[in-house]
Parts: sequence; structure tokens; C-alpha cells
Amino acid sequence: MCGIVGYIGCKNTSEILINGLKELEYRGYDSAGIAILDNDKIEVYKALGKIKNLEEKVSHNECVLNKDNLSIGIGHTRWATHGKPTELNAHPHLGEYSYVVHNGIIENYKELKVELLEAGHKFVSQTDTEVIVHLFEFYFNQSNDAQDAFNQTIKRLDGAYSILLITKSEPTKIFFMKHGSPMAIAKNTTEDGDEIYFASSDAPLIGHAKDVVYLEDGVSGVATNSSLSFSEEVSWDTLPTSKQYAQKDGYRFFMEKEIYEQSDVVTDSMLGRISDEEIIFDEIDANIIEGINEIKICACGTSYHAGITASYLFERLTKVRCNVEIASEFRYKEPLLKKDTLFIVISQSGETADTLEALKMAKKAGLKTVVVCNVDNSSMTRIADATILTRAGIEKGVASTKAFSTQTVVLWMMALYFAKQNNSIESEFLQKEIQVLREVPSSLTVEDKLHEKCRRLSKRYLHGHGFFFIGRDVFYPLALEGALKLKEISYLHAEGYPAGEMKHGPIALADPELFTIALMPEHSHYDKIKSNVEELSARDSTICAISPLDFELADDFIKTSNKSHYMLEFFEMLVVLQVLSMEISVRLGNDVDMPRNLAKSVTVE
Ligand code: F6R
Repeated sequence: MCGIVGYIGCKNTSEILINGLKELEYRGYDSAGIAILDNDKIEVYKALGKIKNLEEKVSHNECVLNKDNLSIGIGHTRWATHGKPTELNAHPHLGEYSYVVHNGIIENYKELKVELLEAGHKFVSQTDTEVIVHLFEFYFNQSNDAQDAFNQTIKRLDGAYSILLITKSEPTKIFFMKHGSPMAIAKNTTEDGDEIYFASSDAPLIGHAKDVVYLEDGVSGVATNSSLSFSEEVSWDTLPTSKQYAQKDGYRFFMEKEIYEQSDVVTDSMLGRISDEEIIFDEIDANIIEGINEIKICACGTSYHAGITASYLFERLTKVRCNVEIASEFRYKEPLLKKDTLFIVISQSGETADTLEALKMAKKAGLKTVVVCNVDNSSMTRIADATILTRAGIEKGVASTKAFSTQTVVLWMMALYFAKQNNSIESEFLQKEIQVLREVPSSLTVEDKLHEKCRRLSKRYLHGHGFFFIGRDVFYPLALEGALKLKEISYLHAEGYPAGEMKHGPIALADPELFTIALMPEHSHYDKIKSNVEELSARDSTICAISPLDFELADDFIKTSNKSHYMLEFFEMLVVLQVLSMEISVRLGNDVDMPRNLAKSVTVE
């Protein structure tokens, strides 16, 4: 995810762009930049890290209006996908006389780059975006017509993108295009003339204008301060007045927004890391697994559940022994740390005190360390030998959702990557798994029907003396995660349990007031889990089964779709558990985003 902004008008453009970028900072903050028309010159400012670093660089700019009393500018906040976070890779990208900011991916940038290099264009960054500006100049050099050059350029681009482009030849215009990635445009009339605002979401526009167009895919156009033209008819809406509402993109809670955006963010987690044939992790040594006899994973809470899931995948695929530890236990058990162990910590925040200390212990003992983390430049990423970012974007809901799905997908890719290095899987198998990975985003989509079903069911699960979430294999840690979600935001007692273990004690609790949420995937030990659920049903527990296969003993049944792989079933069931917990919490009148007694980042022991 990245964010873009643009402005034409007579106010202080740099201030408007910087404030707009701050509203979009949650979309990515590894670098930022702006290009502004200052008097009659276009100035570019870029900075690594947060927007405040850019703000400091820009602070001396007084943004002189041109002779028509006008200023213009475009800006970008980046979440690196192609190319590391460096100033050269930061947007705006520039050619000889034009400047572009872009949110999305140009899928055919490699082919275009080859063509443009042959035509004599010089590239300075490793990004996909830079081709846009060169392509524009390639066509402009032929026609000397900016509108024609822009139209030719956008015809050549494949992928998902929203673009703002300015050029020295017509410095009072912004050319724009939306395809896949979001773009909103707002217009305001003042005594000194019209103003046009552009942004990736409506939060930066609120307070500046009343009317907004949320562009549809395929719409392009050009803006000056006195005209705004579109390639096709658009419809104007009224901007919301509450920023809080806008930041939630219209969802009721951050948690809900974050559940819904999982299918997009896992796409980001995979970006540049999968091709048809292989998994690529530029962040880790290709031979990191060489000489390794054990993989140890350490984490807390939801990240620990992603770790248990990964332990099944790592051991199954790499054939290397893998075990998982809760960081707060690991620290004090006087663990035996051997140098042939690969030590992986998982953390959304990168700041959890127990996980951080465990990482320090492993590092001190000379183990190779890797952190799977959502926050770059956090304490853990500064210590670990290698960092793999999950790219979930900022998670605001205290109950973790998209952190878990992105961690799981990244860990699954790591398991495949290590397995290939280790020669424990064949190329053909890897290619098939990559095809499955590509289906993860659609498995995480929240269907209206499913949400409605969870909403309706939620009213039946408000009381009783407790919940057991049960599953086997990777559905066991998923059951743990489902139970944790419910506990955190509904304050109801819930336990996650391995389904086969119920008969060794907990089944004594079975009665109609004991709710069993049974995860019954088609492609992972279906018959075994079915028997376990039958045992509970025979003892009168109330069963809510989640499965693609009809199950007549269920009191309530949530039917999932027929997926071809157990991991796709895993992600679909994850969404069910998240939505069900949220709806139960809503019915109980709890604060979904800020549940009592909890904090987003636990930096104390
Ligand atoms: C649960 C939750 C917590 C965190 C745990 C670890 O929804 O958010 O259990 O998973 O505190 O935090 P990180 O991943 O930041 O180390």
C-alpha cells in the first residue's frame, strides 16, 4: 500500500500535501516525497522514513505562487514493493521534464523498461513506477502534446495503479488515471479561484471541500484550477465530515476494516516474492537453512498462533525439526540454544518486550535470527540478522486480524522457500503450491452472505458457560486464534483445543450450555475431526460447525466454499472466526476496537 495526494490552487501547496500525506501515513511510511511548482520551477523533496522527516526538509519552502497566483503539487508516501526504501526509489519519480506519483503495481514494467532502455532512456531507481515517466516522455518527444502523450502512456500500462503526473511543459495541469488502486478528487471554490484536491482516500480531503468524485476504474483526466475533465462521465458525492469515519473507510470499526482489507494486504505480502516458478526472499541469505538442524519459533499472543501454524508447515515441508515457544516462558526456562538452530521471532509491532528479550538471548548465543514483523525500524528489526516484513499496513484494532493472516502467508512462503533450498520438495510441487498461494486473497474475501450469517448466529452465543474452539493440524492453532479473538472483544470464556484431546478431560464439561465451534475442513483429517465432534454432540454440547461439507449433527452450521487446499480453507475459516467474534462483541455492546484491559503493543514484561 502507498498513498498519493495532489493539489492545484492558491494556498500553501507544500503544507496541504504534507498534511494530506500524514492522513495517509497508515498506508506506508518507509519514504515520502513531493514535487511542487514553486514560482515557475518544479522543486522535488524526498525523505526516508516517516512524513515528519519530509516535513523538516520542506519547512524552509515558502511556496511562492506563480504569476497566475497559482501553485500545484503531487506527493506520495511509500510502502516499498519494488526496490528497497531509499531516496532514489521514493516518489515522485522524474524524467527530464515530468514527475509522477503512483500507487499500485505496473505488472509489465520489466518489458517496458527494456523497450525504453533501448530507446536511450536512463533509469535511476529499481521501481516499477519510473517507467511511467519515461514512457510519457517517449511519447511526448514524438507528439509534443502532453495530453496525447499521457493517453498513449496509460494505454501501455498493465496492473493496478492510480497515477498523478505533472510536466514542465504545462506546469499548471495535473494528469490523472485510476485503474485498480483508489483515487478521490475534490473541488472547492474560493474567492481567489477554484482548488482541486487529489488523494488515495477521502481523509486528506475532509475539511477542504464538500464535493468528491470517487473515480471508477479506467477513468483518466486532466485538471487545472479552472477546469476538471474526465475521460467519461463521473458522479459527484458529498464528502463525509468526520475524519474518524473516513479513516475507517466507512466501516464501523477499525477491526472490521482490517478484516475486510485482508485480501488486499496479503497481496502486498506476496508482491515481488513469488513468480510462477519460485519463492523469492531478497531479505534472507539463500543458504540460511544450510547446516540448520532445528528451527525454533518464539512469539506471543496472536503471533504465537501464527508460529504454531508455521511449525506444522516448516516441519512438513522442510523436514527440519521445528518447535514453538511462548516468549515469556522461553526467557526463563534456561533454554538450550545450539548454533545449528535457526531462531525465528514473529511480532506485529516488533516491540513486544518478551519476544524482544528472547530475540536478544538467541542473538547473544550466536544463533542465526530472523524476525517476521509488520513494523520496519522497530526494535526487533534492528536486532535480528534478517527481517521479513509482512506489509499488513498499520493495524489499529487492538484485536489482531490482518497481522495474523499476513504473518501466516509469509511463514508459509518461508517454509516453501526453505524446503526448496533444502531440496525437500520438488519444483513441480512448489509450482503447484505457488498457484495455491495466489488464491489466498480470494479466500480472505468477506462475502456479504457469510457476514450476514455470522451476524444472525451471534445472538445465540451470548451466554452459556463457555466456548471450545476445536481443530486438528493447522486448524488447532486456528482454533486457538478464534478463541483468543472471542475472549479479547466479547469477554466470554473461550478455549482453543486440539480436537483429539477433548476426550482426555475437557469433554467432561460437555452439556447444552457448552458451545463447541468445530473447524471441519475437507482437506485436513476430516473423518478424524468428525468423530471428535460426534463425541461432543453425543454428550449434548451445542455444536456450531464450520465446514464445506454438510454435517447433520450441527446445531448451527456455517458453510464454507469448496476449496482445493487445506490452507485456503484455513484462511476462509479465519475470516468466519474473526467476523463471528466481532458480531458477538457488537451484540454485547463492547468496545470492539479498544477492549478493556488491553494495549496494542505490550512493551512491559
Ligand atoms: C491479540 C493480540 C496480541 C498480540 C501479542 C503480540 O489480538 O493482538 O495477542 O498478538 O501481544 O504482539 P506482537 O505481535 O506485536 O508481538
